[in-house]
Amino acid sequence: MSTAISSAPIDPAAIPQRTLYTGAKMPAVGLGTFGSDHVSAEAIAQAVRDAAAIGYRHFDCASVYGNEAQIGAAFSDILQSGIKREELWVTSKLWNDKHGEDDVIASCKQSLHDLHLDYLDLYLVHWPFPNFHPPHCDVTSRSPDAKPYIHENYMRTWRKMEELVNMGLVRHIGTSNMTIPKLKLLLRDARIKPAVNEMELHPHFQQPQLFQYVVENGIQPIGYCPIGSPGRPERDRTPEDTSPTEDPVILEIARRHGIHPAAVCIKWAVQRGQTPIPFSVNHYRDNLACLLNDPLSTEEMQQIAAIDRNCRLIKGQVFLWKDGQTWEALWDLNGEITPA
Ligand SMILES: NC(=O)c1ccc[n+]([C@@H]2O[C@H](COP(=O)([O-])OP(=O)(O)OC[C@H]3O[C@@H](n4cnc5c(N)ncnc54)[C@H](OP(=O)(O)O)[C@@H]3O)[C@@H](O)[C@H]2O)c1
Repeated sequence: MSTAISSAPIDPAAIPQRTLYTGAKMPAVGLGTFGSDHVSAEAIAQAVRDAAAIGYRHFDCASVYGNEAQIGAAFSDILQSGIKREELWVTSKLWNDKHGEDDVIASCKQSLHDLHLDYLDLYLVHWPFPNFHPPHCDVTSRSPDAKPYIHENYMRTWRKMEELVNMGLVRHIGTSNMTIPKLKLLLRDARIKPAVNEMELHPHFQQPQLFQYVVENGIQPIGYCPIGSPGRPERDRTPEDTSPTEDPVILEIARRHGIHPAAVCIKWAVQRGQTPIPFSVNHYRDNLACLLNDPLSTEEMQQIAAIDRNCRLIKGQVFLWKDGQTWEALWDLNGEITPA
């Protein structure tokens, strides 16, 4: 309950920042806003208000989370409280059923309207697949018109993303749920290159090659599910999944520092160089406060590097386009884009 959270503010200037290739600064931790179907839009909007009051400046939103209108009301309150727009970093994302050339700009404008903003700091293509599936559907659900990744189509969507930058509606554009072969094509063809790639990153899924690839190409990695998404819906769970916050190495480091295992995951993420965006309506202050002191040692960072289990939690099964495929087809595991 939010009443249990200390309201003592944290100076946003004390939170590390990432410098994007444009020179813009992005706070190195953000608040996720996807309530995994069990936290109401109002409760999340209230967490956004309270989190801004205690020092958060970075918020990860998306149209598909179904709560941008409520979060927009929170942003109005935050701006009225005296926090300036330029102090905030707001991300939103284009959903999969809006990749069409006529839909991208309209969809961004709708998010801006809902969020009560006149520009976004960052707009992402949420998934590289244009496949609609209804909210809350089961992992076995498939769209009858599902398509594989088709680079020419993605570039048509990307051109509209670039237009949003030129129109001044969006400061940066970026990708999410991409792979190295897809990013290679995009970097070859983009006029405005992605400033970030949002990707699943936690101690049990460290994606070292993709992480290195984006960093080497001047793209900031934003890490989703940084705690291992303990509250994710049943439909996103499989028996093979593991939990970083139950890992003995994380538990031991947490015990040594006197913090929750979740805070170890956040400290590790920020020290490694990604920008975690933990969702929280109850512990969000801890996820900022843990960055203020007592960093993980080099040895602890190495111990965490060694517990990677290559355990992807968000597998994306609903985006599969052919019968008989398994989720691995979405992630180009053999280094080439999975053929149609
Ligand atoms: N781009 C994409 O495709 C994509 C995909 C998935 C997620 N995301 C973004 O990433 C965000 C985070 O992912 P996620 O929500 O799945 O997982 P997550 O941030 O790994 O986990 C959130 C869960 O951890 C708990 N938690 C957070 N901080 C804690 C702490 N210090 N101590 C104990 N428990 C703590 C939260 O509980 P309380 O609420 O009780 O604090 C919540 O149940 C999403 O909200 C969304 O913005 C993006």
